[in-house]
Amino acid sequence: MILVFLGPPGAGKGTQAKMLSQECGFLHVSTGDLLREAVKNGTPLGQKAKEYMDRGELVPDELIIALIEEVFPKDNKGVILDGFPRTVKQALALDEFLKKHSKELYRVIFFDAKDEVIVERLSGRRVCSKCGAVYHIKFNPPKVEGVCDICGGTLIQREDDKEDVVRRRLEVYRAQTKELIDFYKKRGILYSLDASKSMQEIYEELKGLVHGC
Ligand code: AP5
Ligand code: ZN
Repeated sequence: MILVFLGPPGAGKGTQAKMLSQECGFLHVSTGDLLREAVKNGTPLGQKAKEYMDRGELVPDELIIALIEEVFPKDNKGVILDGFPRTVKQALALDEFLKKHSKELYRVIFFDAKDEVIVERLSGRRVCSKCGAVYHIKFNPPKVEGVCDICGGTLIQREDDKEDVVRRRLEVYRAQTKELIDFYKKRGILYSLDASKSMQEIYEELKGLVHGC
């Protein structure tokens, strides 16, 4: 089963993708996480991607498409594409890639959330500097303030969660990614979720949309 999670920054795509992949054994492919890892390790991809990410802009399509081709599993395991595709060019490249490997996109889940919800989620998000676990100061706080429950690492704010970059990410989403809603709606594979609900409520709805694992 191949799923795409689409939606504005901070709508909760990563949170739900982690929950579903854990329960179902799906592979969670987050282009954002992969890029952050590449930046951290100073790889050639990371060096090229950093300036775009810091500005809240999209990394060039060619780099992202090559990344997806590299990490896409060769077996038939379920896959959640979280944060990819983000442009029509990426969506067309995904079509081509799937066709070449005789695979099919099952459903696109659109996480629908208003700007107020997004801003509150992004401004309160904290991530572990060691293991990458994601928290929220109000909605999913760690047991000890500023400390990761899992590994004891220090919690930090993502550079691109600062106010001016968030504003830019929202503009970029509207200008370049939003059109994918219609793109997939026309194909009849777009399913919307009200992403302003609680994590558990969304998860129940999500499982209904993908018919369990
Ligand atoms: P990426 O990391 O993909 O950022 P994004 O799409 O902006 O998504 P986020 O990670 O910010 O949010 P999310 O929806 O996963 O929310 P989360 O679950 O964390 O991309 C970063 C950058 O990389 C891009 O700007 C771009 O430069 C580059 N990039 C990545 N992919 C690319 C591509 N395909 N093409 C080109 N460039 C690309 O939740 C947010 C917060 O809310 C958390 O604190 C969480 O705990 C909390 N929360 C989650 N759900 C709920 C809920 N239901 N109720 C209350 N709180 C909740
Ligand atoms: Zn940690």
